[in-house]
Amino acid sequence: MSISLNRDNLKGFITPKDLDKLIPQITKIHRALEKRTGAFKKPLGWLHGPSQISDSFLKEIQKSAGEIAEHSEALLTIGIGGSYLGIRAAIELLGKDSTLPTYYAGHNLSSDDLYRVLQNLKEKRIAVTVISKSGTTTEPALIFRVVKEFLRERYSNEQLKERIICITDGEKGALRKIAEKNGYRSFVIPDDVGGRFSVLTPVGLVPLAIAGVDIQGLVEGARKAEEEYAVGDWDQNPAYQYAGSRYLLYHKKKKAIEVLSSFDPNLFYLGEWWKQLFAESEGKDGKGIFPSTLTLTTDLHSLGQWMQEGPRNVFETFLLIDQPQHTITLPKEEDDLDGFNCVDGKDLDFVSQKAYEAVAAAHFEGGVPNMTIRLCRADSFHLGYLYYFFEKAVAVSGLLLGINPFDQPGVEAYKKKMFRLLGKAQAKPA
Ligand code: PA5
Repeated sequence: MSISLNRDNLKGFITPKDLDKLIPQITKIHRALEKRTGAFKKPLGWLHGPSQISDSFLKEIQKSAGEIAEHSEALLTIGIGGSYLGIRAAIELLGKDSTLPTYYAGHNLSSDDLYRVLQNLKEKRIAVTVISKSGTTTEPALIFRVVKEFLRERYSNEQLKERIICITDGEKGALRKIAEKNGYRSFVIPDDVGGRFSVLTPVGLVPLAIAGVDIQGLVEGARKAEEEYAVGDWDQNPAYQYAGSRYLLYHKKKKAIEVLSSFDPNLFYLGEWWKQLFAESEGKDGKGIFPSTLTLTTDLHSLGQWMQEGPRNVFETFLLIDQPQHTITLPKEEDDLDGFNCVDGKDLDFVSQKAYEAVAAAHFEGGVPNMTIRLCRADSFHLGYLYYFFEKAVAVSGLLLGINPFDQPGVEAYKKKMFRLLGKAQAKPA
């Protein structure tokens, strides 16, 4: 297994009797998912997606990406939600320094934010990926209009065909029409993969390949996870253990908040991706765990107080990376005025590890049950693996709750009101 899950700090919160009842439910869900016999057949393209991506398709993406990157100094990627967060999570974690500088737009409606992004890109030769599965989402649609204007000041229509890549549905939506009308390069998002499950499709693969991320490794990691988590046996399936444990904490112990805590700020956007995946999948019909994140040790000096002594309706999942990419050794000081010669010669990560052990124990003793997911290292293989782990877990977790984890009807409510205020024709539900 490329990741491990430790559930020792659930002791006393989840009983063997609870598990005895839960495991058959999970087995039933596992079978329904694998046989696609449940009510939710259509959006399961992600389930065996990694093994269905051919190496020749990956090569095709890499070839196009290489051509685009060759004549670009920066990548601007436009998209929101599932068409944004997985990309940013990968670039932030795998190393901003080793990739084409990547900028993000279309995930908010802030003039100041877009202004700053465009200012940064003014002098650079840029490639633009526009990503929208529906092809009709307000934020990327409007920002794409502005970006096209910005590009037209510098490039001819012919040149734009080389610089703009649309990633959208194969047939439906305005973005498909725009791509076809203007002759922009385009890639298809499979119809049977929902937005937040789409990072391992052209949604993530194309911009990441342009940025210089090893997408072959990413997909290989996901394939490995797909193979390992196709096992229905609870004891052998950490994705099911994670899903089942969080469900029991919510259902039996009224733990309505889950905090994903990491000790590496480069995991921040992975946490954002995880929040979107779990919140949009589970928060419906008056049910669902509220997903939140902490970056430690930073947040120990703020939210740490709440975690230790606030309302006890929370559980925590630590996400750790075992082997850092760099080692920083702590130096000795002769006078030892701060008393830290006790860690002389150790590396910073050793102290971070002790901080984790201390926090996990203190939170557990303070009434916050916790689990720990450990990733060997932060590389594309393990990230691909982790994406799949969480996708599989959220599907099972949502189905245990008795909701449809693959739709998001709630996001339409504000849109209807906003479109009325803007005088736009009513949007059809995504
Ligand atoms: O998970 C989802 O479906 C959503 O979060 C979408 O990814 C998000 O709303 C963006 O949608 P689209 O790609 O259609 O622009």
